[in-house]
Amino acid sequence: MVYDGKCPTNYQKVHEKYGPIVRVGPNEVSVADPNMIPVIYGIGSKFTKTPFYATMAPVYQGEPMDSMFTARNPAYHKFLKGSVSQIFSMTNMKNFEVYVDECSQIFIDSMLKLEGELVDFSEWLQWYAFDVIGSITFQRRFGFMEEKRDVDNMIGKIDIGLQYVKILGQFPFLISFLQKAMMSKPIQRLNLLPDTMDQFIKVSVKSQLAFTLTGVMKDLQRTDFLAQLREKEKRSGTISHRDMVNHLSNNLLAGSDTTAISLRAMLYYIVKNPQVYHKIQREIDEADKRKQLSKCVSYDECLKLPYLQATMKEAMRLHPGVGFPLERFVPPGGAEICGHRLPGGTNVSISAPVIHHNKDIYGEDADSFRPERWLEASPEALKAMDRYFLAFGYGARTCIGKNISIMEMGKFVPQLLRHFKITWASPFPEWHTNAAWFWKQSGLLVRLERRPNT
Ligand code: HEM
Repeated sequence: MVYDGKCPTNYQKVHEKYGPIVRVGPNEVSVADPNMIPVIYGIGSKFTKTPFYATMAPVYQGEPMDSMFTARNPAYHKFLKGSVSQIFSMTNMKNFEVYVDECSQIFIDSMLKLEGELVDFSEWLQWYAFDVIGSITFQRRFGFMEEKRDVDNMIGKIDIGLQYVKILGQFPFLISFLQKAMMSKPIQRLNLLPDTMDQFIKVSVKSQLAFTLTGVMKDLQRTDFLAQLREKEKRSGTISHRDMVNHLSNNLLAGSDTTAISLRAMLYYIVKNPQVYHKIQREIDEADKRKQLSKCVSYDECLKLPYLQATMKEAMRLHPGVGFPLERFVPPGGAEICGHRLPGGTNVSISAPVIHHNKDIYGEDADSFRPERWLEASPEALKAMDRYFLAFGYGARTCIGKNISIMEMGKFVPQLLRHFKITWASPFPEWHTNAAWFWKQSGLLVRLERRPNT
């Protein structure tokens, strides 16, 4: 199901063939019935994450460090979430806008220099997303865009790590073996296992140290994640150094590839669908003419561009950042799933790409890219489309960073389209995709042309 990198379509195929509940492994059941989403993932549900997530926990100071994303123990998850949920809130997004604006300007300046040349957007959008999340997290760009390369091979290491995760994560006995191996000094010396998170941990520790050395007084102007976390710690004194490193490094892992994938999806579908491109351009240009857009499009302003918002949702519907099923264990007492009694401990999951193609929810043309569906639907239909939209997960463990990505994409895309006309320039008709937890794309080759008056 996962080996060939086509997990999203493989799951769609098995459900088309066998129906809404399919046994896909010795103890694994995949579900395609949207009514089961609240049962499995809803707030208050007793279904917990499986050891698959442990494969994505980094090691810090010789011990695995469960993050808010990988934590399987609900009490520990609640503890971690408690100290940061306000920082991720919608009202706090204005504090992060400045970091997005800085990076968008660097991106646009770089594109001006590359006008008319072949540009690989798969790389550039990833560099952009990484620099934004570094900037938001600890006011430090990694310099991917300035250096036009994968600095310290950070992106390459995640890719290799996820190829391990993709396969090893399917075998629970290998997961505990792997964790023990990672703790063993001789195996560490052999350097056989990818140190995916190593660089993220190092920069998180360095940024912590730099913050302390430069002194809080000097940093009063800082509104980044780290500065806010340190401010909280000063008031409550309950956030340890380890927990801080945990939150910072997790932002980098959870918030970079996911946003890059969603940005690629948005721009790919815009460029490949001339009618959509025309409409979104018109919406941006008209808002511009009415002086409703600032020099750097603000978050508030982009929320008033309904076609842009619909295009964003539609892109994430057809191409969600996470292409794998979201695995959970049935609680000890067992559970009724699609009319079947599943025993406690059964690995049960729902996959966003499967639900997002459900014609009862998204319409007969669910396989096509059509942002209008989000604007034309009746209030009742729209409610269902939103309720079952799984790009950010669901319920108790839904994505906490969602506001950051929606703000970042909503500001960046109109800013880019204001300045450039973008055309598809690949010799191939489509991009290439590969799913290893994240559903990454490559081969997004374009050419940019400066628009008049920019
Ligand atoms: C478009 C961008 C993004 C997508 C598509 C995305 C997707 C997801 C998904 C599907 C989950 C649920 C995983 C599960 O149930 O197994 C999740 C959880 C999470 N995401 Fe995101 N994410 C995005 C951006 C971000 C950003 C920017 C951050 C942080 C800066 C972030 C941090 C997290 C964290 C911490 C969790 C775990 C939440 C919890 O368990 O309480 N994500 N994300």
